[in-house]
Amino acid sequence: MKKGLTVVILLIALTLGLAGCGQESSEKLIVGTEPTFPPFEYQDEETKEIVGFDIELIKAIAEEAGYEVEIQNLGFDGLIGALKSGNIDVIMSGMTITPEREEEVDFGTPYFDAGLMVAVPTDNTTINSVDDLDGKSVAVQIGTTGAEKAEELKEAGLVKEVKTFDTMDAVFLELLNGTVDAVINDKPVNEVFMAKNPGKIKMVGDILDGEQYGFAVASGETELLEKLNEGLEKVKASGKYDELKAKYFGE
Ligand code: ARG
Repeated sequence: MKKGLTVVILLIALTLGLAGCGQESSEKLIVGTEPTFPPFEYQDEETKEIVGFDIELIKAIAEEAGYEVEIQNLGFDGLIGALKSGNIDVIMSGMTITPEREEEVDFGTPYFDAGLMVAVPTDNTTINSVDDLDGKSVAVQIGTTGAEKAEELKEAGLVKEVKTFDTMDAVFLELLNGTVDAVINDKPVNEVFMAKNPGKIKMVGDILDGEQYGFAVASGETELLEKLNEGLEKVKASGKYDELKAKYFGE
């Protein structure tokens, strides 16, 4: 009798459990991001929650497409691997669409225009353009287009040393501590670090490369990509995109 009851309870638990799983896998998208990239993705200082323009945008897109979103915090250089191995469903991380990355993942419609710029301490008077990086040290975030640019400049015999860090916080700390001469990173993110450290950091020269950000799915996930692209269209048409842009960039 007792044994029979245990079996019944186990069966009920199993059924509920399975139902739960089925529901989750069909409706929840796991979105990977590296959250030291304000205002696109960053941790709220009080709640520690990952927030930002990208996060709100992908949630709005997913909602239009009929999905829920779970945000996963990963290293920037691990995002593409996580997508390829199926540990995450989507990358949303201020990721620039590049031909090399396009060989590994499928990008959605570009959702933001950005570009790389050189940042230096405000009191620096010798670095006024990328050419002035001759013999200088540069800090960058691992796996980024900024890191790629810095390596290119080093190979060209200009930059002397490239120091690579896991987070943008560590990159800017290095600049503030004076242990490197410059940072190469996306302009809108440099602007946030400048505002957070008033009077300490400035940008010099022109935009090095015009870049566009895209969310990414595993290659061949055409149906998911189409749904998300349609979601982006709807988020733009509804005015939600402009609302988020105004909230995070004051435009
Ligand atoms: N846009 C640059 C790239 O794609 C930097 C992105 C860094 N993103 C981040 N969440 N840390 O390489």
